[in-house]
Amino acid sequence: MRSVFVASGIAALAALAAACGPTGSEPASAPSSAPAAPPAPKLTDAEKTAILATLPAPYNTGDLTAGKQAFALCQSCHTIAEGGPNKTGPNLYGVFGRVAGAHEGFKYSDALKAAGFKWDAEKLDAWLANPKTFLPGNRMTFVGLKDEQKRRDLIAYIKVETGYKPGE
Ligand code: HEC
Repeated sequence: MRSVFVASGIAALAALAAACGPTGSEPASAPSSAPAAPPAPKLTDAEKTAILATLPAPYNTGDLTAGKQAFALCQSCHTIAEGGPNKTGPNLYGVFGRVAGAHEGFKYSDALKAAGFKWDAEKLDAWLANPKTFLPGNRMTFVGLKDEQKRRDLIAYIKVETGYKPGE
């Protein structure tokens, strides 16, 4: 797997170099393979605001700045970026619509593995309000976020940051 990535990376670099170099000087060196797909660009603030507006109510009126601040409570244990590592808790990219306890490479508690539901905003809201009572036996040592507005802002933030598409 790794060598494939490296090879396609080199091909992409070569394509780039060929594109930038003086035209016609190296006709034989152009790679024949298609260049690798470019990495997904980071969302701009304007794009994030546009995604926010597509969220179902009440999350469409969430405050992304406040949500980001609330995520400070989570980031000692969770990364949120696409392909981010697992820490004490699993990477959260794409968590909405994902079956609970199913992120590859993370060792979940039996409670979360057996939960059998998909994460949506309502489930996450209940989980974040009080993980212990929502799913007894889970291993997330987090006391809960009691402030409802902060949970809304946080959920809106996570949705926008983790690849939410309307309808999910
Ligand atoms: C002290 C570390 C810690 C903190 C802080 C923490 N978590 Fe977790 N989280 C975990 C662990 C560990 C698990 C896996 C629990 C299990 O297997 O029972 C988890 C699981 C989850 C899951 C389920 C993921 C899945 O794939 O099913 C979600 C969603 C989640 N956390 C969100 C959050 C959010 C949002 C915050 C911040 C408000 C937060 N967590 C704070 C450690 C933490």
